[in-house]
Amino acid sequence: MQHPGRLTGKVAVVTGAASGIGAETARLFARHGASVLLTDMNEVLGNAVVNAIVLDKGTASFALQDVSDEARWAEIAAQAERAYGRVDILCNIAGISGRDPKLNIQTSHTAGPRLAEQTLEQWNQVMAINATGVFLGTKAVIPAMQRAGGGSIINISSICGIVGSHANAAYHASKGAVRIFSKAAAIQYAPDRIRVNSVHPGFVDTPMTAPGHSNPDVARKRLEVTPLGRFGTPYDIAAGCLYLASDEASWVTGSELVIDGGMTAN
Ligand SMILES: NC(=O)c1ccc[n+]([C@@H]2O[C@H](COP(=O)([O-])OP(=O)(O)OC[C@H]3O[C@@H](n4cnc5c(N)ncnc54)[C@H](O)[C@@H]3O)[C@@H](O)[C@H]2O)c1
Repeated sequence: MQHPGRLTGKVAVVTGAASGIGAETARLFARHGASVLLTDMNEVLGNAVVNAIVLDKGTASFALQDVSDEARWAEIAAQAERAYGRVDILCNIAGISGRDPKLNIQTSHTAGPRLAEQTLEQWNQVMAINATGVFLGTKAVIPAMQRAGGGSIINISSICGIVGSHANAAYHASKGAVRIFSKAAAIQYAPDRIRVNSVHPGFVDTPMTAPGHSNPDVARKRLEVTPLGRFGTPYDIAAGCLYLASDEASWVTGSELVIDGGMTAN
């Protein structure tokens, strides 16, 4: 494999790396020369992604992780430093939709419970993984990035962190939290040359959206509000993460990179 080298010599931790956007980001980072520690709750799929990277002559390993577990985060940061000597990049991608499969996705544009049907348990679970997980990860890698002389933290929010919709308020709230948390962290750690940015995907074809996008009615409604007329691919989002991770973005912090086919421009 030839390394185009936009991340040569860098060490990255990528969460949610067993599937969808996280898997593609881990593959792209490795292809660009980074050593990547992939983490996820799904050990089987995570190891499969690692094997594919290694087969492609990249450097990668897998660690099982629930991103809402603070103690595990300390181990992950230590493991990355032990294995590869430093931590330069953290990509917080793990997330859940909070969609209740029992609710009717057929008629729903955003697919998820409305407030009256949203339980506190669902709310807490979505916030714990999507928002608290990002806080814990950022907190855990900061000492290693300070030792490395700087770093780039990329937090996956969503268009749902910018605009609301008629369903799934917990998901919107969790992604809104990621957006503004990233700006606060960016300001606090700019003196350490640790950059923190959020990425806001629109509707992307992944296992998370497969239940909705396989429904022609839901797919049509979502495409109607996407000016570029197609769903995003995991690569569309990974390419944005690559830019933010690289030194090309060395003056970019506290920003929000919207990659949504034009949806929120409308
Ligand atoms: N697909 C989209 O249209 C879209 C749009 C906007 C934002 N996003 C966000 O992008 C991120 C990736 O989503 P995706 O579409 O690739 O979904 P996906 O379901 O394919 O991947 C999510 C991954 O996160 C992992 N995960 C879930 N809970 C976890 C936990 N507690 N600890 C560790 N890992 C956990 C899953 O095992 C899975 O591998 C999510 O944060 C999602 O909210 C997706």
